[in-house]
Amino acid sequence: MRIIKTKDYDEMSRKAANLIAAQILLKNNSVLGLATGSTMTGLYHELIRWYERGDLDFSAVSSVNLDEYVGLPGDHHQSYRYYMNENLFHHINIRQDCAYLPDGMATDAEQECAAYEAQIEALGGTDLQLLGLGHNGHIGFNEPADIFPKVTHEVALEESTIKANARFFTTEDEVPKTAITMGIGSIMRSKQILLCVSGESKADTLKQVLTGPITPQCPGSIVQLHPNLVVVADEGALSLY
Ligand code: GLP
Repeated sequence: MRIIKTKDYDEMSRKAANLIAAQILLKNNSVLGLATGSTMTGLYHELIRWYERGDLDFSAVSSVNLDEYVGLPGDHHQSYRYYMNENLFHHINIRQDCAYLPDGMATDAEQECAAYEAQIEALGGTDLQLLGLGHNGHIGFNEPADIFPKVTHEVALEESTIKANARFFTTEDEVPKTAITMGIGSIMRSKQILLCVSGESKADTLKQVLTGPITPQCPGSIVQLHPNLVVVADEGALSLY
């Protein structure tokens, strides 16, 4: 595991974006595993700047996102498809038909999960998987559980996750109760994992993830077993490490 400690959120965003840029420069048809959340907006902004300077070409890149809320259409302002369009896809030259997210409106969620997993396989797996961290240790939407789910599946969100994500909705009732997420196996099969964490409020969770027991009760702890893990985190997030 390599840990890159940064002064603050902005430096974390720049350094993480540089690592993603390096991946694309070295392999122009990279398959990126992407993530959402406030942690990622800064680094997507930096990637857009790379593109606008003419230093990065996304035309051969494919992407698969970690997760999507069930019941939100792509044009809903809180769907992860909308987030990705607004924060990245609409500002770069990635082919829209090569930028995959689970379909939260699929009538048969189980079938959608199987199709999504097959799509990841068909792309040859991800070269680099970007990960954020939930306060309860979740990665993607893999909530604390008794087992590590292997593949893409539908999951009931924890009360704490619903509360944490309510800040983006008008009321807590509007937050979807379920989501489709890549499994821990889908994530761990990536050739490289880039975990980004910012802020003191996640310091305890990050300490558990990096040094605690590897347990599905703290899903992120599985990354300790990944042979190519890079953590980019700021001083606040690493304050207890
Ligand atoms: C969400 C997402 C995760 C994300 C996490 C942290 O629930 N499903 O993929 O990493 O919460 O979000 P934030 O970066 O806003 O703290």
